Amino acid sequence: MNVIGTQSQGQGVTLLAEQICAGLVGHDTLVERLMTALLTGGHVLIEGPPGLAKTRAVKRLAEGLDGSFARIQCTPDLMPSDLTGTQVFRRNSESFDFVPGPIFHSLVLVDEINRAPPKVQSALLEAMGESQVTAGGVTRRLPDPFMVVATQNPIEHEGTFPLPEAQLDRFLLHVDLALPGAEAERAILDLVEGEAGREASPLPAPLSHGELGAARAAAAAIHLAPALRDFIVRLVIATRETDGTPLDGLVEHAVSPRGTLALAASARARALLHGRDHALPEDVEALAPDALAHRLVPSWRATSEGIDARGIVARLLGHVRPW
Ligand SMILES: Nc1ncnc2c1ncn2[C@@H]1O[C@H](COP(=O)(O)OP(=O)(O)OP(=O)(O)O)[C@@H](O)[C@H]1O
Ligand SMILES: [Mg+2]
Repeated sequence: MNVIGTQSQGQGVTLLAEQICAGLVGHDTLVERLMTALLTGGHVLIEGPPGLAKTRAVKRLAEGLDGSFARIQCTPDLMPSDLTGTQVFRRNSESFDFVPGPIFHSLVLVDEINRAPPKVQSALLEAMGESQVTAGGVTRRLPDPFMVVATQNPIEHEGTFPLPEAQLDRFLLHVDLALPGAEAERAILDLVEGEAGREASPLPAPLSHGELGAARAAAAAIHLAPALRDFIVRLVIATRETDGTPLDGLVEHAVSPRGTLALAASARARALLHGRDHALPEDVEALAPDALAHRLVPSWRATSEGIDARGIVARLLGHVRPW
């Protein structure tokens, strides 16, 4: 990963990104996306078949951060209170105490989110949107930083509840993982077997809240030139005004303003991770698929022609140019 930080505020995060990458084979993009979300206060949805080191990547990120980590395995019988917490009656004091659920951690890995029933999904997404949880009539703030990394299996099983579009929109980025090729597969085998009996390559001292805060401020201050701001807007608008364009008839639901904000914020964070003080068209183009595709619903016609949301974003990038 090319993360030679030239900015002091960004150095801690670029170093952390490099160290997380060192313990993974071929997941530079995934790590970059996780760091991008960390820098912008966003959440990530990872889609991919089982066994691709999703848990490993998120655990390494957790080790590199000064904050608590929790993991929630979703099942169809999960209840919102399993996430948010419950009131417990204490006999000694004859009163109710709130026992916080796993959502009250800085980094929360939600495995197989599409196996959780809709009420749990909406409780989770409310927490993600508002950084607070209401349980037993009391609203409680979640920790800061608070980041959710959710995973889902692309194969639709019986007993899954696909996330509604409105909820998908809450994720800053959606990362699609594919199975590795032969070379990477061999490297994984060597890496994991080589670790047997000893610790995985250790991470340095975790990034403190102060360092993370400074890196977030540096990411927010990255220069996004007016022409690039226009480029982002043109991309998003092109999903809405499709008449006579290569997207004509392919889009059922267009990208919302959340998509515009997500693409701008993540392009800035990517620039910081690459050691620049300004964003480039390549930042916007690299992030457009992961920032926009999950916010788009392809039309019936697109689906019948085998064009999915990522295919639509690919066409979009061919049609709308930076300058
Ligand atoms: N790209 C990779 N780099 C390093 N290790 C890998 C990679 N892919 C798979 N592994 C190894 O494969 C095993 C499975 O990884 P992990 O449990 O993190 O997968 P997962 O994606 O979370 O799977 P699941 O979807 O079943 O939860 C671990 O031992 C992990 O080290
Ligand atoms: Mg896992």
